[in-house]
Amino acid sequence: MLKVYSHTDADAKPLLPQVSKYTEMAELMKLPFWIFAEGSNPIGVVTAGKEPLQMLAPIGTQVAVIDLIQKDQHPRALKDFASQSLKLALERDAQIATVELASEEKAAVDGFIGVDFRVLCDTFTMTLPLDREFDTPRGLELRLARREEMGKWIESASRFLSGSADAVMERILEQLGEFPENLMDMYYSMEKFYFANANKHEIGILNFSPKAGRISNVGVEPSNRGQGHGRKIMLFGLQQLKAANCKQAHLRVHVDNKPALNLYKSLGFKVNERRKLLIWENKKA
Ligand SMILES: CC(C)(COP(=O)(O)OP(=O)(O)OC[C@H]1O[C@@H](n2cnc3c(N)ncnc32)[C@H](O)[C@@H]1OP(=O)(O)O)[C@@H](O)C(=O)NCCC(=O)NCCS
Repeated sequence: MLKVYSHTDADAKPLLPQVSKYTEMAELMKLPFWIFAEGSNPIGVVTAGKEPLQMLAPIGTQVAVIDLIQKDQHPRALKDFASQSLKLALERDAQIATVELASEEKAAVDGFIGVDFRVLCDTFTMTLPLDREFDTPRGLELRLARREEMGKWIESASRFLSGSADAVMERILEQLGEFPENLMDMYYSMEKFYFANANKHEIGILNFSPKAGRISNVGVEPSNRGQGHGRKIMLFGLQQLKAANCKQAHLRVHVDNKPALNLYKSLGFKVNERRKLLIWENKKA
Protein backbone atom coordinates (compact mmCIF):
# COMPACT_ATOMS: atom_id res chain seq x y z
CA MET A 1 0.00 0.00 0.00
CA LEU A 2 1.52 3.28 -1.20
CA LYS A 3 1.47 6.05 1.42
CA VAL A 4 2.23 9.72 0.83
CA TYR A 5 3.97 11.90 3.42
CA SER A 6 4.41 15.63 3.21
CA HIS A 7 7.95 16.73 4.15
CA THR A 8 6.45 18.43 7.21
CA ASP A 9 4.77 15.21 8.50
CA ALA A 10 6.33 13.91 11.70
CA ASP A 11 5.95 10.40 10.20
CA ALA A 12 8.17 11.40 7.26
CA LYS A 13 11.18 12.02 9.56
CA PRO A 14 12.61 8.46 9.45
CA LEU A 15 12.38 8.49 5.63
CA LEU A 16 14.23 11.79 5.11
CA PRO A 17 17.81 10.42 5.29
CA GLN A 18 16.95 7.79 2.65
CA VAL A 19 15.66 10.39 0.18
CA SER A 20 18.18 13.19 0.86
CA LYS A 21 19.83 12.71 -2.55
CA TYR A 22 16.52 13.63 -4.19
CA THR A 23 15.45 16.42 -1.85
CA GLU A 24 18.65 18.46 -1.67
CA MET A 25 17.38 21.08 -4.12
CA ALA A 26 13.96 21.29 -2.45
CA GLU A 27 15.56 21.76 0.99
CA LEU A 28 17.91 24.41 -0.37
CA MET A 29 15.13 26.31 -2.12
CA LYS A 30 12.63 25.68 0.68
CA LEU A 31 10.19 23.95 -1.67
CA PRO A 32 7.50 21.55 -0.48
CA PHE A 33 7.98 17.87 -1.32
CA TRP A 34 6.16 14.60 -0.73
CA ILE A 35 7.57 11.14 -0.16
CA PHE A 36 5.77 8.08 -1.54
CA ALA A 37 6.59 5.01 0.53
CA GLU A 38 5.62 1.41 1.08
CA GLY A 39 6.15 0.80 4.77
CA SER A 40 9.62 2.12 5.55
CA ASN A 41 10.66 1.88 1.89
CA PRO A 42 10.66 5.17 -0.10
CA ILE A 43 9.42 4.67 -3.67
CA GLY A 44 9.65 8.21 -5.02
CA VAL A 45 9.54 11.93 -4.34
CA VAL A 46 7.49 14.76 -5.84
CA THR A 47 8.76 18.33 -5.49
CA ALA A 48 6.52 21.29 -6.30
CA GLY A 49 7.78 24.71 -7.31
CA LYS A 50 7.58 27.47 -9.85
CA GLU A 51 9.60 28.19 -12.95
CA PRO A 52 12.52 28.76 -13.46
CA LEU A 53 12.90 25.51 -11.50
CA GLN A 54 13.01 23.52 -14.76
CA MET A 55 13.43 26.37 -17.27
CA LEU A 56 10.87 24.70 -19.54
CA ALA A 57 8.02 27.21 -19.24
CA PRO A 58 7.55 30.92 -18.50
CA ILE A 59 8.66 32.20 -15.10
CA GLY A 60 6.00 31.67 -12.44
CA THR A 61 4.48 28.56 -14.08
CA GLN A 62 3.72 25.92 -11.47
CA VAL A 63 5.81 22.76 -12.03
CA ALA A 64 6.33 19.39 -10.36
CA VAL A 65 9.51 17.32 -10.48
CA ILE A 66 9.05 13.60 -9.92
CA ASP A 67 11.89 11.30 -8.85
CA LEU A 68 11.53 7.55 -8.93
CA ILE A 69 13.73 5.99 -6.24
CA GLN A 70 12.70 2.34 -6.17
CA LYS A 71 13.17 1.25 -9.77
CA ASP A 72 12.99 -2.48 -9.18
CA GLN A 73 9.26 -2.87 -8.92
CA HIS A 74 6.43 -4.74 -10.55
CA PRO A 75 5.16 -2.82 -13.64
CA ARG A 76 1.79 -2.47 -11.91
CA ALA A 77 3.43 -0.75 -8.92
CA LEU A 78 5.34 1.58 -11.25
CA LYS A 79 2.13 2.45 -13.06
CA ASP A 80 0.50 3.12 -9.73
CA PHE A 81 3.33 5.46 -8.70
CA ALA A 82 3.12 7.25 -12.07
CA SER A 83 -0.60 7.95 -11.73
CA GLN A 84 -0.44 8.85 -8.02
CA SER A 85 2.53 11.18 -8.42
CA LEU A 86 0.81 12.93 -11.34
CA LYS A 87 -2.38 13.20 -9.29
CA LEU A 88 -0.46 14.93 -6.52
CA ALA A 89 1.21 17.26 -9.05
CA LEU A 90 -2.22 18.24 -10.41
CA GLU A 91 -3.54 18.84 -6.90
CA ARG A 92 -0.65 21.30 -6.53
CA ASP A 93 -1.85 22.98 -9.72
CA ALA A 94 1.21 21.94 -11.76
CA GLN A 95 1.03 22.90 -15.43
CA ILE A 96 4.09 20.77 -16.13
CA ALA A 97 5.40 17.61 -14.48
CA THR A 98 8.70 15.95 -15.37
CA VAL A 99 10.48 12.73 -14.54
CA GLU A 100 13.90 11.65 -15.72
CA LEU A 101 14.53 7.93 -16.15
CA ALA A 102 17.25 5.70 -17.52
CA SER A 103 16.10 4.25 -20.86
CA GLU A 104 16.59 0.73 -19.56
CA GLU A 105 13.94 1.41 -16.89
CA LYS A 106 11.43 0.49 -19.53
CA ALA A 107 8.54 -0.50 -17.27
CA ALA A 108 8.82 2.85 -15.48
CA VAL A 109 8.96 4.76 -18.79
CA ASP A 110 5.85 2.84 -19.95
CA GLY A 111 4.12 3.57 -16.63
CA PHE A 112 4.49 7.33 -17.10
CA ILE A 113 3.64 7.21 -20.81
CA GLY A 114 0.49 5.34 -19.77
CA VAL A 115 -0.64 8.42 -17.82
CA ASP A 116 -0.02 10.87 -20.67
CA PHE A 117 3.64 11.75 -20.23
CA ARG A 118 5.71 11.97 -23.43
CA VAL A 119 9.43 11.78 -24.11
CA LEU A 120 10.72 15.35 -24.40
CA CYS A 121 14.36 14.40 -24.73
CA ASP A 122 16.37 11.23 -25.20
CA THR A 123 20.05 11.75 -24.37
CA PHE A 124 23.33 10.00 -23.77
CA THR A 125 25.39 11.16 -20.81
CA MET A 126 29.09 11.06 -21.70
CA THR A 127 32.31 11.52 -19.71
CA LEU A 128 35.98 12.05 -20.46
CA PRO A 129 38.78 11.74 -17.87
CA LEU A 130 40.88 14.91 -17.96
CA ASP A 131 44.14 13.02 -17.55
CA ARG A 132 45.99 14.59 -20.49
CA GLU A 133 46.80 18.02 -21.83
CA PHE A 134 44.65 19.55 -24.59
CA ASP A 135 46.24 21.43 -27.49
CA THR A 136 45.70 25.16 -27.66
CA PRO A 137 43.42 25.61 -30.67
CA ARG A 138 44.90 27.74 -33.44
CA GLY A 139 43.03 30.08 -35.73
CA LEU A 140 40.16 30.58 -33.31
CA GLU A 141 39.68 33.33 -30.77
CA LEU A 142 37.52 32.54 -27.73
CA ARG A 143 36.20 35.55 -25.88
CA LEU A 144 34.41 35.51 -22.54
CA ALA A 145 31.00 37.18 -22.86
CA ARG A 146 30.52 40.15 -20.54
CA ARG A 147 27.41 40.20 -18.39
CA GLU A 148 25.84 42.93 -20.57
CA GLU A 149 26.40 40.76 -23.65
CA MET A 150 24.27 37.88 -22.38
CA GLY A 151 21.28 38.90 -24.52
CA LYS A 152 23.49 38.72 -27.59
CA TRP A 153 25.03 35.44 -26.42
CA ILE A 154 21.56 33.84 -26.06
CA GLU A 155 20.58 35.09 -29.52
CA SER A 156 23.75 33.61 -31.06
CA ALA A 157 23.31 30.37 -29.11
CA SER A 158 19.74 29.98 -30.46
CA ARG A 159 21.07 30.20 -34.03
CA PHE A 160 24.28 28.20 -33.57
CA LEU A 161 22.65 25.36 -31.66
CA SER A 162 20.04 24.77 -34.38
CA GLY A 163 19.87 21.17 -35.52
CA SER A 164 20.94 19.69 -32.19
CA ALA A 165 17.67 17.69 -31.94
CA ASP A 166 17.52 18.74 -28.29
CA ALA A 167 14.05 20.08 -27.46
CA VAL A 168 14.99 20.81 -23.83
CA MET A 169 17.87 23.05 -24.81
CA GLU A 170 15.64 24.96 -27.23
CA ARG A 171 13.06 25.54 -24.51
CA ILE A 172 15.70 26.60 -21.99
CA LEU A 173 17.11 29.16 -24.44
CA GLU A 174 13.60 30.46 -25.07
CA GLN A 175 13.03 30.96 -21.33
CA LEU A 176 16.50 32.47 -20.80
CA GLY A 177 15.65 35.27 -23.22
CA GLU A 178 12.84 36.29 -20.84
CA PHE A 179 14.91 36.14 -17.65
CA PRO A 180 14.72 39.17 -15.34
CA GLU A 181 18.08 40.80 -14.55
CA ASN A 182 18.51 39.22 -11.10
CA LEU A 183 18.04 35.69 -12.42
CA MET A 184 20.36 36.39 -15.33
CA ASP A 185 22.98 37.60 -12.82
CA MET A 186 22.68 34.27 -11.05
CA TYR A 187 22.92 32.23 -14.25
CA TYR A 188 25.90 34.29 -15.42
CA SER A 189 27.70 33.58 -12.14
CA MET A 190 27.16 29.82 -12.49
CA GLU A 191 28.75 29.21 -15.90
CA LYS A 192 31.31 30.64 -18.31
CA PHE A 193 29.87 31.90 -21.61
CA TYR A 194 32.13 32.33 -24.65
CA PHE A 195 31.90 33.66 -28.19
CA ALA A 196 34.16 31.93 -30.76
CA ASN A 197 35.54 34.08 -33.58
CA ALA A 198 37.43 33.05 -36.71
CA ASN A 199 38.85 35.75 -39.02
CA LYS A 200 37.02 38.35 -36.92
CA HIS A 201 33.66 36.65 -37.58
CA GLU A 202 31.55 35.18 -34.86
CA ILE A 203 31.21 31.50 -35.76
CA GLY A 204 30.39 29.71 -32.52
CA ILE A 205 29.44 29.69 -28.85
CA LEU A 206 30.40 27.66 -25.82
CA ASN A 207 29.28 27.53 -22.24
CA PHE A 208 30.54 25.31 -19.46
CA SER A 209 30.55 24.97 -15.70
CA PRO A 210 34.05 24.75 -14.19
CA LYS A 211 32.46 23.88 -10.84
CA ALA A 212 30.50 20.92 -12.16
CA GLY A 213 33.03 19.88 -14.85
CA ARG A 214 30.25 20.18 -17.39
CA ILE A 215 30.29 21.28 -21.03
CA SER A 216 26.76 22.66 -21.30
CA ASN A 217 26.56 23.78 -24.94
CA VAL A 218 28.78 24.00 -27.99
CA GLY A 219 27.48 25.33 -31.28
CA VAL A 220 28.84 26.43 -34.65
CA GLU A 221 27.09 28.75 -37.09
CA PRO A 222 25.42 26.40 -39.63
CA SER A 223 27.34 27.60 -42.74
CA ASN A 224 30.67 27.24 -40.88
CA ARG A 225 30.18 23.65 -39.76
CA GLY A 226 32.45 20.80 -40.90
CA GLN A 227 35.60 22.96 -40.94
CA GLY A 228 37.11 21.91 -37.62
CA HIS A 229 35.73 24.80 -35.54
CA GLY A 230 33.61 22.58 -33.28
CA ARG A 231 36.62 20.44 -32.37
CA LYS A 232 38.71 23.53 -31.55
CA ILE A 233 35.96 25.04 -29.40
CA MET A 234 35.67 21.75 -27.49
CA LEU A 235 39.45 21.55 -27.00
CA PHE A 236 39.37 25.05 -25.52
CA GLY A 237 36.53 24.05 -23.17
CA LEU A 238 38.34 20.90 -22.04
CA GLN A 239 41.52 22.89 -21.46
CA GLN A 240 39.55 25.32 -19.27
CA LEU A 241 37.95 22.51 -17.24
CA LYS A 242 41.35 20.90 -16.71
CA ALA A 243 42.82 24.26 -15.64
CA ALA A 244 39.94 24.49 -13.12
CA ASN A 245 41.14 21.17 -11.65
CA CYS A 246 38.21 19.08 -12.87
CA LYS A 247 39.13 15.39 -12.93
CA GLN A 248 36.64 14.63 -15.66
CA ALA A 249 34.41 16.40 -18.14
CA HIS A 250 30.82 15.42 -18.63
CA LEU A 251 28.06 16.39 -21.04
CA ARG A 252 24.75 15.33 -22.53
CA VAL A 253 23.92 14.82 -26.16
CA HIS A 254 20.70 13.89 -27.93
CA VAL A 255 20.87 10.28 -29.18
CA ASP A 256 20.04 11.43 -32.76
CA ASN A 257 22.70 14.17 -32.87
CA LYS A 258 25.26 12.32 -35.01
CA PRO A 259 27.68 15.22 -35.67
CA ALA A 260 28.00 16.06 -31.97
CA LEU A 261 28.17 12.39 -30.92
CA ASN A 262 30.99 11.75 -33.41
CA LEU A 263 32.82 14.88 -32.29
CA TYR A 264 32.65 13.89 -28.61
CA LYS A 265 33.65 10.28 -29.34
CA SER A 266 36.61 11.45 -31.42
CA LEU A 267 37.77 13.49 -28.41
CA GLY A 268 37.62 10.35 -26.24
CA PHE A 269 34.24 10.81 -24.53
CA LYS A 270 32.48 7.56 -23.63
CA VAL A 271 28.75 6.96 -23.20
CA ASN A 272 27.72 6.25 -19.60
CA GLU A 273 23.98 6.08 -19.75
CA ARG A 274 20.98 6.79 -21.94
CA ARG A 275 18.37 8.90 -20.18
CA LYS A 276 14.89 10.07 -21.09
CA LEU A 277 13.21 13.20 -19.82
CA LEU A 278 9.47 12.64 -19.75
CA ILE A 279 7.02 15.48 -19.50
CA TRP A 280 3.33 15.91 -18.79
CA GLU A 281 1.93 19.27 -19.89
CA ASN A 282 -1.44 20.80 -19.26
CA LYS A 283 -2.81 20.99 -22.80
CA LYS A 284 -5.40 23.54 -21.79
CA ALA A 285 -2.79 26.02 -20.48
C1 LIG B 1 28.31 19.48 -33.27
C2 LIG B 1 28.99 20.69 -33.90
C3 LIG B 1 29.34 21.67 -32.78
C4 LIG B 1 30.27 20.24 -34.60
O1 LIG B 1 30.93 21.39 -35.08
P1 LIG B 1 31.74 21.39 -36.48
O2 LIG B 1 32.54 22.63 -36.53
O3 LIG B 1 30.80 21.14 -37.57
O4 LIG B 1 32.67 20.10 -36.25
P2 LIG B 1 34.14 19.86 -36.80
O5 LIG B 1 34.24 20.34 -38.21
O6 LIG B 1 35.12 20.38 -35.83
O7 LIG B 1 34.19 18.27 -36.82
C5 LIG B 1 34.67 17.55 -35.72
C6 LIG B 1 34.15 16.12 -35.76
O8 LIG B 1 32.75 16.11 -35.56
C7 LIG B 1 32.15 15.05 -36.30
N1 LIG B 1 31.23 15.62 -37.28
C8 LIG B 1 31.12 16.95 -37.62
N2 LIG B 1 30.13 17.12 -38.53
C9 LIG B 1 29.62 15.88 -38.77
C10 LIG B 1 28.56 15.41 -39.59
N3 LIG B 1 27.82 16.24 -40.34
N4 LIG B 1 28.28 14.10 -39.56
C11 LIG B 1 28.98 13.24 -38.79
N5 LIG B 1 30.00 13.64 -37.98
C12 LIG B 1 30.31 14.94 -37.97
C13 LIG B 1 33.30 14.33 -36.97
O9 LIG B 1 33.73 13.30 -36.08
C14 LIG B 1 34.34 15.40 -37.08
O10 LIG B 1 35.63 14.88 -37.14
P3 LIG B 1 36.31 14.58 -38.59
O11 LIG B 1 36.23 15.88 -39.33
O12 LIG B 1 37.70 14.18 -38.22
O13 LIG B 1 35.49 13.52 -39.21
C15 LIG B 1 28.06 21.37 -34.96
O14 LIG B 1 27.61 20.39 -35.86
C16 LIG B 1 26.88 22.11 -34.39
O15 LIG B 1 26.97 23.29 -34.03
N6 LIG B 1 25.71 21.41 -34.29
C17 LIG B 1 24.49 22.03 -33.77
C18 LIG B 1 24.60 22.28 -32.28
C19 LIG B 1 24.86 21.01 -31.51
O16 LIG B 1 24.35 19.97 -31.82
N7 LIG B 1 25.67 21.13 -30.45
C20 LIG B 1 26.00 20.03 -29.60
C21 LIG B 1 24.94 19.72 -28.64
S1 LIG B 1 25.05 20.69 -27.17
